[in-house]
Amino acid sequence: MRFAILAATILAIPTTSLAADMVEDTIAARQGYYKLLGANMGVLAGMAKGEIDYDSSSAQTAADNMVTLTSYNLGHLYVPGTSADDSDKTRALAKIWEDFPGVQEKGAAYVKAAMAMQEVAGAGKGEMAGALGALGGSCKGCHDAYRAK
Ligand code: HEC
Repeated sequence: MRFAILAATILAIPTTSLAADMVEDTIAARQGYYKLLGANMGVLAGMAKGEIDYDSSSAQTAADNMVTLTSYNLGHLYVPGTSADDSDKTRALAKIWEDFPGVQEKGAAYVKAAMAMQEVAGAGKGEMAGALGALGGSCKGCHDAYRAK
C-alpha cells in the first residue's frame, strides 16, 4: 500500500532538464498517461449514468486498469521545463514544481479512491456507482489545484 501510494504519484522530480526537442514529447506522454485514466474512468462513469449497460467484468477491468496505472512512476514525465509557463501545449501549472508535497497528497487520495473502486467495481452497478464520487473527486481535487482551466 505504502509503495503504491508513493509510486503512483511523482516519486521525485528529476533534477536534470530535458533537451529542448524532448519537451513536447514528454508533455504528450504525460497527457497520454492521463488519457488512459480518462478512458477507464469513462467506462465507469458511462455505466453509472446508464449511457452504457453495466457489465461486471468490464467495470472490474476498468478499475483494475486504474489501479495498475497507480504503480507507474510519473517522475520522468514531470521533469523541470515542462510546465504551462514553459510550453503552450500543456495545462500543468508551474505550481506543481513548487509544491511537490501538495501534489503527492492529491496523488495519494487518487490511489486510495482507485483501490476502493477496485474492491466494488464488479459487485454491482450500485456498488460501483457508490465509489465513483470519491474517485472522480480525487481527479478533480488535483485538477482544480494543479491544472490550468
Ligand atoms: C496528482 C494530480 C492529478 C490527479 C490525481 C489526476 N490528474 Fe488528470 N491531470 C493532471 C495534470 C497536471 C494534467 C495536465 C497534463 C498536461 O497538460 O501536461 C491532467 C490532465 C488530465 C487529462 C487531459 C489529458 C490530455 O489529453 O491533455 C485527463 C483526461 C485527465 N487528467 C483525467 C484524469 C482522471 C480521470 C483522473 C482520476 C481518475 C485524474 N486525471 C487524476 C493531474 C492529475
